[in-house]
Amino acid sequence: MTSLADIRSRYLDFFRRNDHEVVAASPLVPRNDPTLMFTNSGMVQFKNLFTGVETRPYIRATTAQKCVRAGGKHNDLDNVGYTARHLTFFEMLGNFSFGDYFKEAAIPYAWEMVTRELGIPKEKLLVTVYKDDDEAADLWRKVAGLPDDRIIRIGDKADGSSDNFWMMGPTGPCGPSSEIFYDHGEKFWGGPPGSPEEDGDRFIEIWNLVFMQFEQFEDGSRRSLDAKSIDTGMGLERISALLQGTNNVFETDLFRALIDASAHASNTDLSEQFLTHHRVIADHLRSTSFLIAEGVLPSNEGRGYVLRRIMRRAMRHAHLLGARDPLMYRLVPALEKEMGAHYPELIQARALITETLKAEEERFRQTLDRGLKLLDDELAGLPEGAELSGASAFKLYDTYGFPLDLTQDALREKGRGVDTAGFTAAMAEQKAKARAAWTGTGEAAEEGIWFDLADKHGPTEFLGYDTEEAEGQILALVAEGGAAADSAEAGTALRIVLNQTPFYAESGGQVGDAGMLKTETGAARITDCRKTAGVFVHFAEVTEGRIERGQGAELKVDHARRGMIRANHSATHLLNEALRQALGDHVAQRGSLNAPDRLRFDFSHNKALSADEIATVEREVNEYIRQNTAVETRIMTPDDARGLGAQALFGEKYGDEVRVVSMGRAATGKGLRGDTYSIELCGGTHVGRTGDIGLFALLSDSASSSGVRRIEALTGAAAMAELRRRDVTLAEIEAALKTGGADVAARVRALLDERKALANEVAQLRRELATGGGGGGASAKEINGVKLIAQVLSGVTGKDLPSIIDGMKAELGSGAVLLIADAGGKAAVAAGVTADLTGRISAVDLLKAAVAELGGKGGGGRPDMAQGGAASAENAPAAIAAVESLIGGAA
Ligand code: ALA
Repeated sequence: MTSLADIRSRYLDFFRRNDHEVVAASPLVPRNDPTLMFTNSGMVQFKNLFTGVETRPYIRATTAQKCVRAGGKHNDLDNVGYTARHLTFFEMLGNFSFGDYFKEAAIPYAWEMVTRELGIPKEKLLVTVYKDDDEAADLWRKVAGLPDDRIIRIGDKADGSSDNFWMMGPTGPCGPSSEIFYDHGEKFWGGPPGSPEEDGDRFIEIWNLVFMQFEQFEDGSRRSLDAKSIDTGMGLERISALLQGTNNVFETDLFRALIDASAHASNTDLSEQFLTHHRVIADHLRSTSFLIAEGVLPSNEGRGYVLRRIMRRAMRHAHLLGARDPLMYRLVPALEKEMGAHYPELIQARALITETLKAEEERFRQTLDRGLKLLDDELAGLPEGAELSGASAFKLYDTYGFPLDLTQDALREKGRGVDTAGFTAAMAEQKAKARAAWTGTGEAAEEGIWFDLADKHGPTEFLGYDTEEAEGQILALVAEGGAAADSAEAGTALRIVLNQTPFYAESGGQVGDAGMLKTETGAARITDCRKTAGVFVHFAEVTEGRIERGQGAELKVDHARRGMIRANHSATHLLNEALRQALGDHVAQRGSLNAPDRLRFDFSHNKALSADEIATVEREVNEYIRQNTAVETRIMTPDDARGLGAQALFGEKYGDEVRVVSMGRAATGKGLRGDTYSIELCGGTHVGRTGDIGLFALLSDSASSSGVRRIEALTGAAAMAELRRRDVTLAEIEAALKTGGADVAARVRALLDERKALANEVAQLRRELATGGGGGGASAKEINGVKLIAQVLSGVTGKDLPSIIDGMKAELGSGAVLLIADAGGKAAVAAGVTADLTGRISAVDLLKAAVAELGGKGGGGRPDMAQGGAASAENAPAAIAAVESLIGGAA
């Protein structure tokens, strides 16, 4: 038996021998085309080579390309499980010429490949060509020797499309095509292409050769391409089926293995009643696993919603198999066994795939039974053949998580449809209600614009978890003041809305991304990004040329800036947990800022951190950085996340599902869940591994508000710069002190002590100097039996006077003292009386008499010591005389 793997390598080898470059497959989420949901064929990665926008070192290429057809122009989801040939995920083998060979070589290559390389009998083959493509018809006649009745001309359908005119999507390179069909024989129902029975499974298309010669634009117009090119696609699963003697892709080696796994895991068999379910599950397992491996996660919008639709469709079929527990995730090992060798991404993403499938199936099971019951009840009341009402389908969607196509799939078995117009109307009504209930903070008029855009285009799809560069389509340009514009010239500041973007919009403390936007006609600098009603608003300034609504735009996030933001955000998670470990479980986040240059974290705690606590927290964060474990992101319900012990923001509202970010391998018994160190609900962007944070330096701990502390910190290069700055300062101190290492602090303390002692000594010396070397030097005069020292001093301050007076009083034993300190332009006055005399004379009275003569005001104290001041000491003799006469008159 020829396996899929053999056929893949035979195909690539054949074209390699014929001078084709073997090019690696591109991702399923196209990086180069904003209009396309998923890579739906081999040519997607070469799109710009056909139109001439891009050139590469080769002009012939061959690939085996993974493709998903579950949304947009090429959507096979509804057919999967019900035909022998439709799949949502498949591999397409292709050969391409970029302006090199055209039909004259493409047809002979194809014929040789099919008949000689793969050995398919010529008489089983027939081909189609576009209705007026005589050239292709002639070539088939000549090269393959096919009779005219096996060269079928196909025209346009009523809607203008044709099976023999291929377009990737609504816009892009396109051209007439020629398809090769295989006749599986009379035992199968179906007719040749173009006949009324063409949809049967007897004649199966195995290869499509597209003669690229036009480019189609949004308005439906086309231009002829400068160079004619070739794009071909052969479905690997279909050709394998054929070579394995069947017309049914689900009977190939690979699918048999997956279906066996499904039967085994669900305890069922391969009988007719279960077969469709197994087939749907096997196909959907492939598409969902590959999408998850590329970072697409189930959500309620964009690609994430397509993924969810595929998953839930499979999960309903698992339910119909009677599986009691989640089934899909148990099939991952079988898929890995079949495809992991060629697609190592499946193995790398094993944990993510398994957990995402399990969580989604667990979640969906919570509503699936009740939803199906509602569906049965509704149908019971409907007349035979009548459609399910739009309102019921909407309720199933809104309350029970049934995507519309899942409901349609369930009704298909019962031969019924859904009123899709009614469904759309119910959806629109709900949106209008949500809008009316919105309480934003910005200006009402402005918010209206974003809501209108959300209604018209849906929410912006965020690509920035996986990539910092992508293309997006400009949906709206909004000038300052809120007016919509069709274009904007260099120098204009405005806001731009795109269908998808790698720019993170400010939320959860993480600032919006900045970067560049480029279109065919101009460029703009993006300075910030915010979101309202799911619409990402890019704040921009046009720097070059002109940008226009409707244009495709290259979007590039400022990588260095985003890198710093990531590091700060991941460090904040580690900090949060380190604080809890160091201070206790009461620590809860109260706010945060993750900017490129720093991080700030507010948390509940009511006293300043000690130096030890700060050191412990800083050390622990750095330990987890050095541990360098992968940062993991998963999607789950808020309840499941809380069940894991995830830290959530107090008072924050979360939707149906949350992102859960985990990092760090904790010492046993220390982690939140098992050995995971930090688990948080978080929509932000994070480093791949904790080591990417580089370094963490805690700057400060301060009070933010009552009971809330605020820590500021730096990471990476900024932390390094901060440590260097501290080092330089210390080095300067060491140089000045002429000492280093541990001695510095002791040396500084010693210097401070020394300084204090010296200051005391200086004060003492000043006093001695002023009084001529102590109280004994001053002469006392006796008045009315009272010894009085009255002196004018210079070189001392008012502060020095009391201690000098105390000294003099001690010398006198009994008496009074009056001192006037002359500080030039200012005088301090103090008077003292020994305790034995205070009954007769009060220091306060002496002071007042002196101050009055000096022209001062106020002053006071106790009977034994009083102090005051005056503007000058000029009238000192009069002041002394006044004191003398006061004593003279005392009783
Ligand atoms: N791009 C062409 C197809 O997908 C070959 O059918």
